Amino acid sequence: MNNLYRTIDFLPHGDARGQLVAVEEEKDIPFSIKRVYYMYDTTEGVRRGFHAHKHLEQVLICVHGSCKIHLDNGRETAEVVLDTPNRGLYLASNIWREMYDFSPDAVLMVLASELYDEADYIRDYDAYIKYLKTMEEI
Ligand code: TYD
Repeated sequence: MNNLYRTIDFLPHGDARGQLVAVEEEKDIPFSIKRVYYMYDTTEGVRRGFHAHKHLEQVLICVHGSCKIHLDNGRETAEVVLDTPNRGLYLASNIWREMYDFSPDAVLMVLASELYDEADYIRDYDAYIKYLKTMEEI
């Protein structure tokens, strides 16, 4: 599980004017960034995600507000709180994720290693478990 996710603390360049965080691909982010998307105006109480990716790597940054991420590798689960703009959550491929407990002001930004490709998604949990078993057999 530990090799599938980790938090990354970014260095804020703070001074009397406020904070600035810069993230660079292959340095702060462990891949080349091909896509950025973000979620906001999230409906209260909503839970989203419910998928794993076959190849995609991502870094999630809650740039405003807070949210929680539920992770599952088929054997263990973990919950990660994202509540500061200077922390990212790296997710390798092959990990099931659900996002929940969004604060009303939450903006969850995601940096992704690939362009959007629906074929890379596993959106059914049972199919995810079966996929993991086929991976183990290879
Ligand atoms: P969806 O995968 O349902 O979001 P989540 O996994 O957070 O529940 O995505 C919502 C919609 O946005 C869906 O129609 C696909 C589209 N989408 C894109 O067009 N490009 C993207 O990069 C992403 C992440 C989603």
